Amino acid sequence: MKTYFRRGFFAEFAIAFAVTVSAGAWPENYATQAHANEPPQVIEIKAKKFEFSPSTITLKAGQPVILRLTSEDRTHGFFAKPLNIDADIEPGKTTDVAVTPDAVGEYVVICDHYCGIGHGNMKLTLNVVN
Ligand code: CUA
Repeated sequence: MKTYFRRGFFAEFAIAFAVTVSAGAWPENYATQAHANEPPQVIEIKAKKFEFSPSTITLKAGQPVILRLTSEDRTHGFFAKPLNIDADIEPGKTTDVAVTPDAVGEYVVICDHYCGIGHGNMKLTLNVVN
C-alpha cells in the first residue's frame, strides 16, 4: 500500500513536470522573458558649469539603460568613445542616450563642447560592473 502510494506520487510529479516544461513555463525561461520585457532603467544626469550631477554612475554589463541628460545653464557635451556615446546637452531640452555597456571597466565621460574656463575638467565617471 505504501509503495503503491509513492509510485503514484512520483508519476504525478513527472506529469506535472512535463506539462510545465512543454507549456514553456519553466521558471528560468519565464524569468528571462520577464526581464527582457522590462523597460530600461532611466538615470537622470544634470549638467552645469562645470560638472555633471551625479558625477559617478554605476551600470551593469549587458543591461540597457537610458541616460536622461539636461543642462541647467548652457550647451555641454557628453562624450565617451569606448561606449559609443556622443551627445550634446542643450538647455531647455531633454536628451536621452540609450546605452548597453558590454565590457566591465571604469570609463570617463567628458564634456566635449566648450563651455567656459572649467570645461577641461568637466567629467563623469561611469563604472560598469558585472
Ligand atoms: Cu561643459 Cu564643456
